[in-house]
Amino acid sequence: MAKFTTFSVRKNKVAEGAKPLVAVTAYDYTFAKLVDGLVDIVLVGDSLGMVVQGHTNTLSVTLEQMIYHTRCVAAGLKNTHLVVDMPFMSYQVTVEGALTNAGRLLSEGGAQAVKIEGGVTIARTITRLVEMGIPVMGHIGLTPQSVHALGGYRIQGKTEIERESIIQDALALEDAGVYAIVLEGIPSELSQIITEQIKVPTIGIGAGPNCDGQILVLQDFLGLNPDFQPKFVKRFAKLAEETRSAVTAYADEVREKSFPEKEHSFHVDS
Ligand code: KIV
Repeated sequence: MAKFTTFSVRKNKVAEGAKPLVAVTAYDYTFAKLVDGLVDIVLVGDSLGMVVQGHTNTLSVTLEQMIYHTRCVAAGLKNTHLVVDMPFMSYQVTVEGALTNAGRLLSEGGAQAVKIEGGVTIARTITRLVEMGIPVMGHIGLTPQSVHALGGYRIQGKTEIERESIIQDALALEDAGVYAIVLEGIPSELSQIITEQIKVPTIGIGAGPNCDGQILVLQDFLGLNPDFQPKFVKRFAKLAEETRSAVTAYADEVREKSFPEKEHSFHVDS
């Protein structure tokens, strides 16, 4: 498979017979290597604050942590497009700050693009990043970095006013030059309207089937966290159960002294 780029992502929207874009999150080398070439886009999401660090939201994730995890993921990818989240307050304060921080995610982390939450209010910053040669993926609807402003992880676009404001966000991002937009936690009807109105691909999470692509957190659809089962996640595997049963088997064999056996051991004469 050829290396997937921002150009491939854009082109996918208009290419004859193109299949929906497939995106997943990854935070480390092992998973990045496993998914490389199977999906089109890997996102180093700031969801690592919850999935890796065990926090209840993404707000405490730092730029240094994002750079570190992006470097780990980049080491495992050969074919798949790599985009990284700009963490909370790394792009909102000044345009100059956003440029410096996005630049570090590309030059030190090895990402090909950054993802930024927000619409109309952040469009000016996005325009500047794009002008400076930094590709930006937008993210609107339920934007997790605004969890407190939104009053929790609530589906957005339930009222006509909210829907109009999300459409305006999508149009502002398209004007600002994003190469794709994540639509999170909005009704399917709204993602259909946005997907039909804008020329860049939409990538949905909890936004129904009418987007140009889909993204999920890898650990969620692998079933690695049995306590987390939101409506928009389908479990494609039950790896929590598999992991626990493998660890139990290992612990039993160590305690019974049936592991390691001869084949797992080194000897002076072999
Ligand atoms: O942080 C993240 O993982 C995300 C995706 C789930 C869209 O933003």
